[in-house]
Amino acid sequence: MGFRILAFLMSGLCPLLGQSPQPSLPKSLAEAVAAASPTGFVGSSVCRICHPDVWQSFFRNPHYKSLASGKSEPENTGCESCHGPAKGHVEAQGGKTTIPVAFSLLSPAKTLDTCLRCHGKDLSRIDIRRSSHSQAEVACAHCHSIHKSTTQKFLLARDQRDLCYGCHGNVRVQFAMPFKHRVNEGFMNCTDCHNPHGAPAATWRMGVRPRMVAQALANEEPCLKCHTDKRGPFAFEHPAVRVDGCESCHHPHGSTNAKLLRRPAVFTTCLECHTGGGTFGRQADGIAQQSPTHDMRNPRYQNCTACHVRIHGSNADRLFLR
Ligand code: HEC
Ligand code: HEC
Ligand code: HEC
Ligand code: HEC
Ligand code: HEC
Ligand code: HEC
Ligand code: HEC
Ligand code: HEC
Ligand code: HEC
Ligand code: HEC
Repeated sequence: MGFRILAFLMSGLCPLLGQSPQPSLPKSLAEAVAAASPTGFVGSSVCRICHPDVWQSFFRNPHYKSLASGKSEPENTGCESCHGPAKGHVEAQGGKTTIPVAFSLLSPAKTLDTCLRCHGKDLSRIDIRRSSHSQAEVACAHCHSIHKSTTQKFLLARDQRDLCYGCHGNVRVQFAMPFKHRVNEGFMNCTDCHNPHGAPAATWRMGVRPRMVAQALANEEPCLKCHTDKRGPFAFEHPAVRVDGCESCHHPHGSTNAKLLRRPAVFTTCLECHTGGGTFGRQADGIAQQSPTHDMRNPRYQNCTACHVRIHGSNADRLFLR
């Protein structure tokens, strides 16, 4: 509070000190109230008087644009575009409960409503209200800080990695495995693969939207924007790649196995699906048996990708042998 009173003194306005409990409004406040729009918008400059700290950094905020241009309607301009018409707040000379939108008192759902009034369009490809985050009551202001952002871009509350690890500490360990994507080293970000706002409907993995995994281009796994050689389309697709998705064989974060594989030996990965329905695979007791063509007791046959070299898809061979 002290700084607000100080601000009053410094701005040469009628000091609050020593006044009766219901003082008449300082002149500039009274003027602002009198000049309020019929719907109760007083304009942002009056906020400066009591919230100089917030005001001071606001010119750097992308939301300042509405103020600078002066062309938006009052309800879409400056401070009140988020906090609502503040006539009553100014008349009362402050207070948490007098401002229509005080985020500290707002439920996550109401925070979403407030921000999506304008951002619903940018985020419209995504059903943000049904994302894992929204459903777990993690809302905009958990990740974005409008007034105290430390990042240049996107008004993030913290550097992205620290932000995500703040709640997903277990994931840090996965990125410290012997084989990993270099997120902890700063070469990649979580948002190279995830969209924290939610994932759009996807066609891979049969259209389910797991884990808010983002997508690249039209309906592709985000992996393909970097691993372009896996993109295809191939004349002969491996359904495991195209339908089930990369994570059916790889741990996307990190793994103790080379090539980020889920299992230490390649063949055990394959035998998860090629289980012996039909002519190929192993017996129910789990001991590798021979198929008509593959003698699984022969170690030569255990390194499946030594022969099935185009395991991600081939343009030449139905069995991915070349
Ligand atoms: C884009 C929406 C938005 C705009 C525009 C905005 N605020 Fe905020 N304000 C917030 C949110 C969200 C919070 C909750 C704290 C946080 O997340 O940073 C907040 C918090 C506050 C607080 C509580 C103290 C604090 O720092 O947390 C004050 C006071 C405040 N805003 C005043 C203002 C003033 C004055 C302006 C105009 C200069 C303004 N706000 C513009 C969204 C906004
Ligand atoms: C006469 C001084 C004064 C003026 C003018 C003023 N405020 Fe406030 N405001 C306060 C005080 C005092 C509080 C209560 C702070 C507290 O309880 O922590 C407050 C609280 C708030 C909060 C609530 C923050 C929270 O806890 O979530 C917001 C938002 C806010 N003001 C925005 C504005 C905006 C926007 C304007 C300009 C339209 C404005 N204020 C003008 C004095 C003022
Ligand atoms: C009145 C409309 C309006 C409201 C309400 C609003 N925003 Fe914005 N927001 C904008 C505009 C306009 C921009 C600037 C876009 C640009 O620079 O092209 C912006 C920019 C942003 C950016 C930066 C985007 C970037 O590319 O760096 C973030 C993050 C953001 N808003 C989050 C929020 C959050 C969180 C809330 C709710 C607390 C909110 N906004 C409420 C209109 C709004
Ligand atoms: C779990 C954390 C998290 C939540 C919750 C969240 N965001 Fe974001 N948001 C981010 C991150 C991280 C980025 C930066 C994305 C990037 O690096 O590409 C971002 C980017 C943005 C951008 C700019 C780029 C874009 O995608 O358009 C806007 C605008 C934005 N967020 C608005 C919002 C709004 C509005 C809400 C609430 C309805 C919200 N965010 C909720 C983490 C979050
Ligand atoms: C304020 C805490 C918080 C922050 C910050 C946060 N998350 Fe989350 N996240 C959660 C909660 C809670 C859930 C839902 C419960 C769960 O699955 O752990 C969740 C779920 C997820 C999921 C889906 C998990 C699943 O099983 O479906 C992913 C992916 C995710 N977060 C990524 C991120 C990324 C990337 C960031 C940073 C941009 C981030 N989160 C920031 C709390 C947070
Ligand atoms: C290389 C792409 C990639 C990067 C980078 C990435 N993720 Fe993931 N993440 C995925 C995929 C794909 C899944 C889904 C795995 C599955 O369904 O088996 C996933 C799953 C998750 C889950 C849910 C499952 C679990 O392990 O709890 C969380 C939470 C998560 N990621 C958080 C993060 C965070 C936080 C970061 C950044 C520090 C991050 N991810 C970076 C691709 C990535
Ligand atoms: C932003 C670019 C990018 C994205 C997105 C990405 N990767 Fe990678 N990936 C790399 C880079 C770069 C490497 C090289 C390893 C390193 O960084 O040290 C790599 C390495 C790998 C490796 C190990 C290769 C080897 O020879 O050891 C596998 C497997 C892999 N990625 C799979 C995936 C999967 C699956 C996804 C999606 C869930 C994915 N990647 C998303 C950039 C990316
Ligand atoms: C059917 C299981 C399977 C699926 C699904 C799969 N991979 Fe692989 N991937 C492998 C195996 C096995 C290796 C190791 C090949 C070797 O050692 O010769 C590998 C190796 C890799 C490598 C490193 C070597 C190389 O070929 O560049 C990358 C990168 C990679 N995969 C990315 C991906 C991406 C991206 C996807 C999804 C589009 C994906 N993988 C889906 C089984 C799979
Ligand atoms: C997630 C399940 C899954 C995994 C894991 C998997 N596959 Fe497949 N694979 C399939 C499906 C489904 C087909 C299509 C079978 C069909 O059309 O009869 C297929 C087809 C094939 C074919 C072509 C055979 C044919 O009859 O068309 C070969 C060869 C093959 N897989 C080898 C492998 C190898 C080698 C691995 C391990 C690196 C592997 N697969 C891992 C699901 C999987
Ligand atoms: C030494 C080379 C070689 C290795 C190693 C090998 N394959 Fe094959 N595989 C072949 C050849 C050649 C064919 C096609 C001709 C045939 O059926 O004999 C084939 C056919 C297949 C087929 C389709 C026909 C069928 O029998 O259903 C599948 C599925 C398959 N292999 C999976 C695997 C898996 C899984 C592994 C690892 C456990 C593996 N292969 C290891 C050479 C190999």
